[in-house]
Amino acid sequence: MKFFIDTANLAQIKEAQSLGVLDGVTTNPSLMAKEGITGKDNILKHYVDICNLVEGDVSAEVNALDFEGMVREGEELAELHEQIVVKLPMTKEGVQAAKYFSDKGIKTNVTLVFSAGQALLAAKAGATYVSPFLGRLDDVSTDGLNLIQEIREIYDNYGYETQILAASVRHTMHIVNCAKIGADVMTGPLSAIAGLLKHPLTDIGLAQFIADFEKGNK
Ligand code: E4P
Repeated sequence: MKFFIDTANLAQIKEAQSLGVLDGVTTNPSLMAKEGITGKDNILKHYVDICNLVEGDVSAEVNALDFEGMVREGEELAELHEQIVVKLPMTKEGVQAAKYFSDKGIKTNVTLVFSAGQALLAAKAGATYVSPFLGRLDDVSTDGLNLIQEIREIYDNYGYETQILAASVRHTMHIVNCAKIGADVMTGPLSAIAGLLKHPLTDIGLAQFIADFEKGNK
């Protein structure tokens, strides 16, 4: 399973990158705003900065809601860097734009997916990634993992190449469960990725190994 970090924070991207397990980055307009990145030039520059930090795909979201606007923005984003993936909302225009970009060989990520039917449409449009929002479904007492399982089954039935990018991941067990189900990618915060490192028995065992080594090597 590929690991993407879901942030526009350069320090956090660097830290995840330093672990050696990072495969890409996802951003969205809220994450960019959280970092205080505003204004077209600053936003475009920030995407390039992110691309220069990591080796994998970097999702950059369009803000237009109409097809022509999505195409215009998406083309501009795609021209920024070869690692850019054009992120499009799951709307009629977003699906049309996914088809347009897929026909041109430009990578896309269809976002804000909350049903298997939406994921099926994204795959038929040739999206590179589909982003079901696991955590936001869990937030409203709906089983987000079940949606990912349904999408996995549908894509496997027909051999769709669209990769399932489990998004809105909040914690370590989301990551583990996505891996069990067979999500192709997960995107989550640094805290969830770093959380995978932790186990008290590892800490206890290591302290014991060090103590025993020091006893024998005084
Ligand atoms: C996906 O690409 C989104 O950026 C993201 O995962 C949303 O996560 P949130 O529900 O924690 O905001």
